[in-house]
Amino acid sequence: MSRKIKWGVIGSGGIARRRTIPEGIVKAPNAELSAVFDIDQQVNAEVARQFGAGQAGSIDELLDAGADAIYVATPASVHAEQVRACADAGKHVLCEKPLGMTVAEAEEMIALCRQKGVTLGCAFMMRFVAQHREALALVRQGRLGRPVYARAQLSCWYPPIEGAWRQDPATGGGGSLIDMGGHCIDLLEMFFGAVARVGCFVNNTIHSYKSEDSATAMLFFENGALGTVDTFFCIPDNSSKNALELYGSKGSILAKGTIGQGPAGQMEAFLEEDGKGYDAQQARAQAQSTAIDPEPLNTYQAEIEEFSQAIAENREPTIGGQLGLHSQKVLTACYESAASGKVVEIG
Ligand SMILES: NC(=O)c1ccc[n+]([C@@H]2O[C@H](COP(=O)([O-])OP(=O)(O)OC[C@H]3O[C@@H](n4cnc5c(N)ncnc54)[C@H](O)[C@@H]3O)[C@@H](O)[C@H]2O)c1
Repeated sequence: MSRKIKWGVIGSGGIARRRTIPEGIVKAPNAELSAVFDIDQQVNAEVARQFGAGQAGSIDELLDAGADAIYVATPASVHAEQVRACADAGKHVLCEKPLGMTVAEAEEMIALCRQKGVTLGCAFMMRFVAQHREALALVRQGRLGRPVYARAQLSCWYPPIEGAWRQDPATGGGGSLIDMGGHCIDLLEMFFGAVARVGCFVNNTIHSYKSEDSATAMLFFENGALGTVDTFFCIPDNSSKNALELYGSKGSILAKGTIGQGPAGQMEAFLEEDGKGYDAQQARAQAQSTAIDPEPLNTYQAEIEEFSQAIAENREPTIGGQLGLHSQKVLTACYESAASGKVVEIG
């Protein structure tokens, strides 16, 4: 095994504390937690104590604490300045999604990291879900035939909360679309390749905060397949099953609940044998499915392990800054489409 990469964390009190530190940095065999920083010093002290890490009183102090890599898990509006500080200090950096607030910010982050010789990653950890990896293998083997249509859904109930950064585009970049739809679009692109153009609607259907609580995006992939993403902050958690559906000319892969934070959900494949002709009866009754039920993989451990290994091997991580930039381009096009009512090409 390669040496252990020492990790620092900026924004220790949210997803870092809930998932990425305990399930990722602490568990990955090639990683160890060195120090943490959060603007909320009380929370930071608790996290430092909980995980036996150094407690930094400022970002400068954190960057001086001997870490090799920094995990940035703060509101979207401060990602760019914090990644800049990390890169200037010569630290590799794994930034939560969205990479930045704008395409220009994401481009600057990539350029600076390249110039400083540090590795930049974007935390699209749902790519590591075990069922998603098996589905990807089937797609790559051509078992679906030619990609035809894909759908991804991620919704929750997110009522108005005073000061919540996701509820104001000035701090979150948008609402359900950028926050959860970004994961959905990224996943569909993992399966079907890049999106060429989008059409999108956003709305505040239930909640009256400044960010959208409702979004649907229509995707036209470069390979000619179509897709839809639906993502809402105003549907009860238990009512949305986070569907993932991939259809091709030779079958489908259908899942519920695999899109999310923990190892969960069911996935099955309906695959046709080669050469099946036209069935005028369109008989569907006895469709045989194959369960896609691999050994679960913790996505946070997988992302920290992979990024740490990329640093040790001095190579690009599998989920690098370019994917974060591309996501930013697609999301920006979606918001442009929602504002203009027109289909928008990805620049
Ligand atoms: N991949 C995932 O599973 C996942 C899940 C949730 C959130 N996220 C992403 O993680 C990031 C954080 O989201 P969250 O849910 O943890 O938010 P959160 O509000 O729960 O936590 C953010 C933490 O950052 C701290 N903070 C705020 N401003 C700061 C600053 N300027 N400097 C240092 N610390 C600061 C806050 O005090 C808080 O402890 C976002 O980019 C979000 O999209 C990813």
